Amino acid sequence: MSSVNASGDGPGTQTPTPPLDPLDQGAVQAAVAQALDAIGHAASVTDLQTARRDFQGEQSPLTQANHAIKLLPKDQRAAAGKLVGQARGRVAQALKQREAELQAEEAQRRLATETVDVTLPTARLTEGARHPLELLQERIADIFTALGWEVAEGPEVEAEWFDFDALNFGPDHPARQMQDTFFIDPPGSHLVLRTHTSPVQARALLSRGVPVYVVVPGKVFRKDELDATHTPVFHQVEGLAVDKGLTMAHLRGTLDHLATTMFGEGVHTRLRPSYFPFTEPSAEVDVLCFVCKGHDPHCHTCGGSGWIEWGGCGMVHPNVLIACGVDPLEYQGFAFGMGIERTAMFRHGITDMHDMVEGDLRFSRRYGMEI
Ligand code: PHE
Repeated sequence: MSSVNASGDGPGTQTPTPPLDPLDQGAVQAAVAQALDAIGHAASVTDLQTARRDFQGEQSPLTQANHAIKLLPKDQRAAAGKLVGQARGRVAQALKQREAELQAEEAQRRLATETVDVTLPTARLTEGARHPLELLQERIADIFTALGWEVAEGPEVEAEWFDFDALNFGPDHPARQMQDTFFIDPPGSHLVLRTHTSPVQARALLSRGVPVYVVVPGKVFRKDELDATHTPVFHQVEGLAVDKGLTMAHLRGTLDHLATTMFGEGVHTRLRPSYFPFTEPSAEVDVLCFVCKGHDPHCHTCGGSGWIEWGGCGMVHPNVLIACGVDPLEYQGFAFGMGIERTAMFRHGITDMHDMVEGDLRFSRRYGMEI
C-alpha cells in the first residue's frame, strides 16, 4: 500500500512533480509531512521499501531539493542546507523507527505461528542397541587386553587341519563326524565351519611365535538344532598363553581373575578333570554361583549346586606345540574356552536360547545396555 502513489499528488514514478524549492519552508515541511504519513502507514516491509524509494530515493523531492542547493547563490546555500538537511534527517529517522517496529511485529508474528506443539506424536525411528553377545565378547576381550594380552582372530570357514589335526584330534576322533561338523563342499575341500575358536591357538602360535598371550572371541558352528539351550551358531572366547615356565597355577589365577572381574569379588573358579585332545591335563571350569555364592540350595541361577559350568581349559598339549613349531621342553602354556551364550544366559537369567538369536530389539535393549 502506498498512499503517495494512490493519492496522485506524490512523487510517484508516473507523475512528474514540480521540483521542490530548497528555500521554501512550507513546501519542505509539506514534503516531510507527506513522507511521515506514508511511512507511518507502511504496513509491511514491502510498503516501507516503497516509501523509502519515494521519499529518500534519488527521484524523491527532498533528494532533488538537496541537489538543487548547490545551484543556489552562495549566501543562500547554508539556510537551504539546514532546512533540507533537517527535513531529510526526520524522514530518515522515521524510516528507521518504522523499520524497527515492523521487524518487531514480524518477529512476534513468527513466534505466534511457528510454535512447536511438543505433545504431537512423533515419527522418530526406533533406536537400536548393540547385541548383548557382542558387548559380552568385547568386555571379556577388554579384561585381557588390560593384562597386556592381544586380541586375535581367525576365519569362520577354517581348514580342517587347524580345526582338528593341529589340535591333536586323531583321524577317527568322533568330533570330526558329520553329525557335529559342517563340512564345506566339495567333500575334498578339507574346509569346515570352525567348531570352536581353538584353531586360532594354532594360528596364533604359527603367526606370532612365542611367547604369546592372546584372547580370541568369535563365532563357531555345530550341527545342533535350535532349542532352548542349543544353537547351531554360537560364540566362544578362547584364551591362549604360551611362555617359559607357565603352569596350571597361572591358568587357575587367570580364570579366577576373569571370574572376579566379570561376576564380582569373591567369585572364583574350580576345575574338574576332563578330556580335550589339545590340552593335557584338561579340565572343565565351573564358576562359583555369583548369586548365592553356594549358600542357597534353591538358587535359580545355579540350581542349588553352588557352581555354574562355564567352559573348558587345560595345559596346551605338547603335540599342539610341536605341530606349530614350538619346543615343548622350552615353552609351556595354557588355554581355555568359554561359551558366550551360556555366560550371557546365566548372567542375566535368560532361559531360552531363542531370545538370543531372534534379534528382537526389546531383548537387545534390555540386555544390551549393560552386561
Ligand atoms: N574348544 C573347547 C570346546 O569347544 C574348549 C577348550 C578351549 C578346551 C581351550 C580347552 C582349551 O569345548
